[in-house]
Amino acid sequence: MRENPFILEPYKCKALFCDRELETKQMIDYLNNGRNVTLISPRRLGKTGLIFRVFDEIGESQKDTDCFYVDISASQSMDDFIKLLSEAVISVLGKQSKLSAFFKAIGGLRPLVTYDPMTGSPQISLTYRNEEDRELSLKGIFQYLESHPKKVVLAIDEFQQVREYAAVNMEALLRSYIQSLHNVRFIFCGSKKHTMTDIFTNAKRPFYESTTFLSLNKLDIPVYKDFIQLKFREGGRQIASDDVDQIIKWTRDHTFYTQTLCNELYFNCSEEISARDILEAEGRILAANRDRFLELQRLLTPAQWKMLTAIAKEGSVDHPTATAFIQKYRLGSGAAVSKNIKSMVEKELILVENDGQKVHYYVYNVFLSRFLETL
Ligand SMILES: Nc1ncnc2c1ncn2[C@@H]1O[C@H](COP(=O)(O)OP(=O)(O)OP(=O)(O)O)[C@@H](O)[C@H]1O
Ligand SMILES: [Mg+2]
Repeated sequence: MRENPFILEPYKCKALFCDRELETKQMIDYLNNGRNVTLISPRRLGKTGLIFRVFDEIGESQKDTDCFYVDISASQSMDDFIKLLSEAVISVLGKQSKLSAFFKAIGGLRPLVTYDPMTGSPQISLTYRNEEDRELSLKGIFQYLESHPKKVVLAIDEFQQVREYAAVNMEALLRSYIQSLHNVRFIFCGSKKHTMTDIFTNAKRPFYESTTFLSLNKLDIPVYKDFIQLKFREGGRQIASDDVDQIIKWTRDHTFYTQTLCNELYFNCSEEISARDILEAEGRILAANRDRFLELQRLLTPAQWKMLTAIAKEGSVDHPTATAFIQKYRLGSGAAVSKNIKSMVEKELILVENDGQKVHYYVYNVFLSRFLETL
């Protein structure tokens, strides 16, 4: 059977990746012109996918460049950061068997690499005697990349996580090493807009004005529509234009959710896709997520859950503290509503979007929003 063309991972190949041509070109142009790039968008819109799309393009057309990718979302300390960055470097160098020079550069005591038998990905263990050793190790990695025989692009995904490291001003440390590099260009990527913006635009922070911003928006609807119809057609399935509109509308053109619905629909339908098939696929997705959503309900206060449900039923809300909205859903005092909104924005349960004219509040997870609507 032909593989499902609607991928649920950030990137597989150009043919299964919709558009982002302009962003890909722009990012490569910035990097080639010696700029570091900050890439920001809400979650699950396609930042990581875009990074791999850019890497793919660079791999094809710029043989003098090596690309490195590190996701630091799981890191809690500078040790974790060094470990993840080292593993990212080794996973590229491993193929080039230049590991001994790299070990020399990172110092530390007895660096040890093992390879995951299932995935083949490297895992490094490092120990340090003191803080100085640790900083030297971090500096060593950057110096190693600086003297790499090819140009280097290093993407650090979920960069806002450096704010969570206790006992070290990671931003200041990184900035001090990074600013002297000429051979290494950086992509700093993150979804927490507030934190990312503060890191790169606050005059009091070390990374102030050191990068060029690239913000990722939703996929262009007509382009995404064509892509969806084409992929169904290539798989021998027909879908009417109105029905694709329905898919995009129900998932709010939010890439991960649109891909998930298309993926579900693709393997569970006949050659002629009907509006009923789509409704059933939506139902299956909500049913599969139901337990997770009810678990979330147990983690929130009743007032927060009520607030989330109210926003979902409205679709989006521009003024959540407005009397009419509060009264309609009996949400309590304006102060309590403000407090709950703030806390749920921080927890990434509510998405705040500013379209230049107005601010809109949504339930962040589109499937949760559709589930809450039905309550
Ligand atoms: N251009 C695209 N074409 C097809 N599918 C895409 C595209 N971009 C993203 N996706 C889909 O959306 C999902 C989310 O993309 P990705 O993981 O890149 O988002 P992200 O912005 O990095 O999210 P997060 O902030 O949660 O890390 C992917 O798993 C994939 O299914
Ligand atoms: Mg990502």
